[in-house]
Amino acid sequence: MTKHVVNSQPQAVLSPEIKSKMRQLPVFFIALSLMLWSCGPEQAPILRFDHAAVVSAHPLASEVGASILKAGGNAVDAAVGVHFALAVVFPQAGNIGGGGFLVTRDEHGAAHSIDFREKAPAAAFREMYLDEFGEVIPDLSWKGHLAVGVPGSVAGMWAAHDSLGSLPWADLLQPAIDLAALGFALTAKEAEALNEKIDRFRTYNTRPALWWEKDVWQAGDSIHLPDLARTLSYIRDLGPAGFYQGPVADSMIAEMQRGQGIMTHEDLLAYDAQWREPLRGSYRDCEVISMGPPSSGGVALLQLLELVEPFPLSSYGFHSAEAVHLMVEAERRVYADRAKHLGDPDFWPVPVAGLLQPAYLQERMKSFSENAATPSDSIFAGNPLVLESTETTHYSIIDAQGRAVSVTTTLNGGYGSGVLVGGAGFFLNNEMDDFSAKPGVPNAYGLLGAEANAIEPGKRMLSSMTPTIVTRHDSLLMVVGTPGGSTIITSVFQNIINIVDFNMGMNVSVSAPRFHHQWRPDQIDYEKDAFDPKVIQVLENMGHKLSIRGPIGRVDAILVLPGGSLSPGADPRGDDWSSGY
Ligand code: DON
Repeated sequence: MTKHVVNSQPQAVLSPEIKSKMRQLPVFFIALSLMLWSCGPEQAPILRFDHAAVVSAHPLASEVGASILKAGGNAVDAAVGVHFALAVVFPQAGNIGGGGFLVTRDEHGAAHSIDFREKAPAAAFREMYLDEFGEVIPDLSWKGHLAVGVPGSVAGMWAAHDSLGSLPWADLLQPAIDLAALGFALTAKEAEALNEKIDRFRTYNTRPALWWEKDVWQAGDSIHLPDLARTLSYIRDLGPAGFYQGPVADSMIAEMQRGQGIMTHEDLLAYDAQWREPLRGSYRDCEVISMGPPSSGGVALLQLLELVEPFPLSSYGFHSAEAVHLMVEAERRVYADRAKHLGDPDFWPVPVAGLLQPAYLQERMKSFSENAATPSDSIFAGNPLVLESTETTHYSIIDAQGRAVSVTTTLNGGYGSGVLVGGAGFFLNNEMDDFSAKPGVPNAYGLLGAEANAIEPGKRMLSSMTPTIVTRHDSLLMVVGTPGGSTIITSVFQNIINIVDFNMGMNVSVSAPRFHHQWRPDQIDYEKDAFDPKVIQVLENMGHKLSIRGPIGRVDAILVLPGGSLSPGADPRGDDWSSGY
């Protein structure tokens, strides 16, 4: 193999015109980073940008995206910059060791999606997480080296950029390299997230690394990641070959061997990101464009919207008992379908068209009663026609030409498997847990699955990620998505309803409290203050069980206002931040 000399130092690889615009970035990042930990990153709501906007989980990543847009990059260029910046400053979910989905629509209405979901290694097999009695071994698909799926992010970003990007790849990687090499300060929320995981890091890693050097992290602690800067420099200089081959790949496989993982060089070489037809459906006077299998997100979202469309949600009122009851009843039916019918379409004939047929969906709602909860025990997956053979993070971007990009990406749990690739400085995912390890046994998000989502070599595990773009009368209306495991689908669903039925502004919509039902367990999970006590009483009288829980998702979205300016919504549940011009 050719030896490449890669310089981990921040380098002047920018083309001259972009260089002048982006030259001040490192100094700006350090200043912003200091400001963030000294006063906390809470952003006062920004009402509008005139031309272009980025909303992501971290202020520094949003600023990278905005600087690329200002320098003339398009939304895909900005997505690449944001993705790699998140891999540095937001390691709990931003990643190069994970995967995700990208949905994009250009100003003429052409839409595309890229599946860069992780794949099961070739040595994976159906019973790999079961003991000799056929029982699931706790944590084996969730923590450590065996939980790792073959990462897709670098291939996905490359595919997007190769077809739709406009600025040089190297220029888009450089801000992330600068952040890793020059350093940044931890926010309070990141310090807290790290502190929860230090024991896991120490248990599953075999090499020293910054993240578990200390016992307690604090807001303002300074982070320098030279190994990660070097890894990103390989990717900057060599593209996917800098990750799936060469020294970074060698480090990943050496890490696997130290920890008895099963991913091999052949798995890395065989990884491919896939262009897939996005799913398109309608809701009232809007078109909804979202991600198809191997995410369940688009199918489930379109099913939910179709199920509630015949009902006058706006006259019921926001979070009224009628509205919540209707949405929950739709959700339990849709999640029952998800558990049986959804999986990787390259391995399982997912009946997408059948699941979205209006006649099929009307049939699913025949058992709906306006006055009483339908127990989940009496709801089963339907029999759609087979009409064809066939801690996550989200960012939303709109550029000055009107191209929209919606990306949800993840390592699965916060910091994924907890395994950091020794010497290469990045965390590997624990996405194998998204397979159904055994029919009837729930995964980390309580989700059930069966044959369609059983483990097979080279197969992609089912996802709930729902990066979505909504248009009205052929004009872009909103870009939306969120993390949150199984709650992703219902959070996107609620935000579309907030905008379309309840006419909210985007800041109000992303901040509004949320609720969730996923068929099993048979309960409505809700955030504190989501419901008036009287609404809770009415729902309980109908037979619903309610369970209060912590924050649901972190929705980052952008609304196009009449007249064309952009109103961002950065979820206040996290450090999420909007930037633009
Ligand atoms: O693909 C999925 O559905 C999950 N791996 C997403 C995990 C997630 O959202 C965790 N973040 N809160």
